[in-house]
Amino acid sequence: MTEDIIKVKDLIVAYDEKPAIWHLNMTLQKNSITAIVGPNGAGKSTLIKSIMQLIKPVSGEIQINGSKSKKALKDVAYVPQKGEVNWEFPTTVLDVVLMGRYVHKGWIKRPNKNDHKIAMSALREMKMEAFRNRQISELSGGQRQRVFLARAICQDADIYIMDEPLQGIDITTEKLIIKTIKSLQQEGKTFLVVHHNLDTVKEYFDHVIIMNKTIFAGGKISEVWTEENIDKAYNEVSAVR
Ligand SMILES: Nc1ncnc2c1ncn2[C@@H]1O[C@H](COP(=O)(O)OP(=O)(O)OP(=O)(O)O)[C@@H](O)[C@H]1O
Ligand SMILES: [Mg+2]
Repeated sequence: MTEDIIKVKDLIVAYDEKPAIWHLNMTLQKNSITAIVGPNGAGKSTLIKSIMQLIKPVSGEIQINGSKSKKALKDVAYVPQKGEVNWEFPTTVLDVVLMGRYVHKGWIKRPNKNDHKIAMSALREMKMEAFRNRQISELSGGQRQRVFLARAICQDADIYIMDEPLQGIDITTEKLIIKTIKSLQQEGKTFLVVHHNLDTVKEYFDHVIIMNKTIFAGGKISEVWTEENIDKAYNEVSAVR
């Protein structure tokens, strides 16, 4: 049986009264690995930030696991787009990963032995164990990305929302991340991932959302990943522009 774990109804989001998202409807299938694709400025990050309640929409409704409450976000791990993180913040790799545990503990309690064990295992999975005491500012872009993925794994969420996790990453790391995502899917997790490389959509994902301000097509790759749908979002002048 299929189940919608996220539902977005008639969403409108604007910056300075200019709409970035226009009457957008989507559902995220539980246990899917769904790609969001669309050109630069299509509103992909805006959609994700709206789901994470980091932006207040003009109108519309977003449900996570049937709930509109902020509490539902406890089950969601979010990896922001690269440029949106302040990397100069003085903190170690291990501390960043441990932050993933705070959703389970609240901010007051200190992480215990078990949290450390979980954090180290996530770092190992991302092959970043050796960097655990390094300052986050002293890592390469791809290494930082892996630390953020380790933090998301550590959170042990139901839903993983990732904004271009493969951007600027080498092919070995890319394969490692995809392998990790697929094994977490086997455990029942759901993934919503912004992805730019159209050539790998079919190989990495089972569902896709093709968008440009609104959704042009969404569903199983086998049903909606057609040249016509891709063209519509990338080449045609959208009616709402
Ligand atoms: N904070 C902001 N203030 C004003 N306009 C913004 C802001 N953030 C995004 N926008 C505009 O909203 C539109 C959608 O931006 P968004 O970042 O969601 O696109 P995107 O699909 O994630 O693009 P990319 O592929 O480049 O990451 C763009 O036209 C962008 O210029
Ligand atoms: Mg973006």
